[in-house]
Amino acid sequence: MERILELKGVKKRYGNVEVLKGINLTLKRGDFVAILGPSGSGKSTLLHIAGGLDTPTEGGVYLFGKRIDNLREAERDRYRKGKVAFIFQFHYLLEDFTVFENLTLFGELLGIPNTKERAEEILKFLKLEHRKDYKPYLLSGGERQRVSIGRALISGAPLILADEPTGNLDSKQSEEIFEYFKEINRRGTTFLVVTHNQKLLKYFNRVYHIRDGVLTD
Ligand SMILES: Nc1ncnc2c1ncn2[C@@H]1O[C@H](COP(=O)(O)OP(=O)(O)OP(=O)(O)O)[C@@H](O)[C@H]1O
Ligand SMILES: [Mg+2]
Repeated sequence: MERILELKGVKKRYGNVEVLKGINLTLKRGDFVAILGPSGSGKSTLLHIAGGLDTPTEGGVYLFGKRIDNLREAERDRYRKGKVAFIFQFHYLLEDFTVFENLTLFGELLGIPNTKERAEEILKFLKLEHRKDYKPYLLSGGERQRVSIGRALISGAPLILADEPTGNLDSKQSEEIFEYFKEINRRGTTFLVVTHNQKLLKYFNRVYHIRDGVLTD
């Protein structure tokens, strides 16, 4: 059993508010895990800490067997790059570049081979071929979301952390995206996904709820 991610007693305080009160979570290779919880319950905070974008106030974060919460920021960034891909709740696209470039630049940054071919394939799957040369401001919310999914996919990272990845999509599009996630998952990519969509729960092999700073299943 390969441990992809482990959170041990993770707490996070902002000022005197404790958002996470002792989170324990283990993801093994091939897991496809959901986190549900009300708005403000700490789901995004948890994903950011899990992926090394933020650090806990207390507790340990282990990514592919290495403790990352006590690393310096630059070292942590170097370690997580190419290992973890994020699909954020709010999509950060490069506004001065086209859809195609948003994928290929990211792939090249990570040193991914055949980025152009991969980008073509991913855009085709995401039904964005006709938007390839558009800059992000010309896209709809759902199209922007699909580009940010494409950017996570091009990295080929073994762990994908996704924060409401289909929040702006209709149910048919959401199911299509999840079918694709499931296919990538079958090939070995591990997923931790925040979602509100009850209809998508059938895809997951474990579902956790976060409430009052703790996880329950
Ligand atoms: N940098 C920060 N400084 C202070 N408080 C913060 C910070 N980031 C998050 N919080 C607070 O922590 C709580 C949890 O935020 P978080 O974004 O993790 O919630 P969430 O479960 O993702 O909510 P949503 O479903 O609305 O996205 C919120 O009350 C939020 O205001
Ligand atoms: Mg959130």
